[in-house]
Amino acid sequence: MSDSPKVISVTSGKGGVGKTNLSVNLACCLAKNGKRVVLLDADLGLANVDIVLGLTPTYNIFDLFHGKTLDEVLCETPYGFKILPASSGMSDMMSLETGQKLELLEALDELEDHIDYLIVDTGAGIHDNVLYFNLAVQERIVMLTTEPTSLTDAYALIKVLKQRHGVDRFKVIVNMASSLGLAKDVFSRLYTACDHFLEGVSLDLVGTIPRDPLVRNSIIKQVPFCIGEPNSNAATAMQAIATVVQNWDTPEILDGNIKFFWKKLLFRAS
Ligand SMILES: Nc1ncnc2c1ncn2[C@@H]1O[C@H](COP(=O)(O)OP(=O)(O)OP(=O)(O)O)[C@@H](O)[C@H]1O
Ligand SMILES: [Mg+2]
Repeated sequence: MSDSPKVISVTSGKGGVGKTNLSVNLACCLAKNGKRVVLLDADLGLANVDIVLGLTPTYNIFDLFHGKTLDEVLCETPYGFKILPASSGMSDMMSLETGQKLELLEALDELEDHIDYLIVDTGAGIHDNVLYFNLAVQERIVMLTTEPTSLTDAYALIKVLKQRHGVDRFKVIVNMASSLGLAKDVFSRLYTACDHFLEGVSLDLVGTIPRDPLVRNSIIKQVPFCIGEPNSNAATAMQAIATVVQNWDTPEILDGNIKFFWKKLLFRAS
């Protein structure tokens, strides 16, 4: 495994499947394991990482143009990781002039030597903004639940990324399952559909998280469930997922993984 930071998106076809909760709790678990983690809140519609955590970041990525340093823009959480708020202006970011994009790239480049993981919490669906983030990252975690619409929407997202953009490696997490058997059955149905209709796609089940009423308690308290309810079934599942993520052998990009991510995002062909 390389020492270069890993850039991972948490994404889904259908909304409300648990991406933000997973992103925040994965960040917590990795930080507890001594990793340096930044969570990029890339959900353009509802930037809700801060709501889940009960934090109000003072600055966002655009303040890098207004004299703020990256250190100032990064919002510290009480759980050992930082948030990089993207604000709702990511599409504005893509229409910046080249000079400004380079300036931004330089400022964000600093992350390369200072973190181990950049986790990107995306919006749901197959809109361009969601796709761009998923194209720029190294690994994509597609989340779904046991609801049939969530399965068809996950398949639709994978299909677009594969057929239009050639992405063929996906990690999968089944959330809110009432039993392990049901979760595995949903993964198996997704796997079979991809195997039949999308040639060359590799799907890996990272783990499953049970439906757990203690998750809701933590949301009300605005504390990640891994911290607030460490003995809950969801927290146990989350720890196991973090261990799997830490053991991924992600291919290294010579140019630097973080640099590659921002470059791809900012200078994508329109
Ligand atoms: N394992 C779980 N057990 C019980 N409830 C859960 C679990 N995971 C998530 N939830 C519930 O699902 C709701 C949606 O979760 P979350 O906001 O993380 O989804 P999301 O995919 O980020 O949504 P969006 O697509 O709107 O960004 C949460 O409010 C929480 O109550
Ligand atoms: Mg969300």
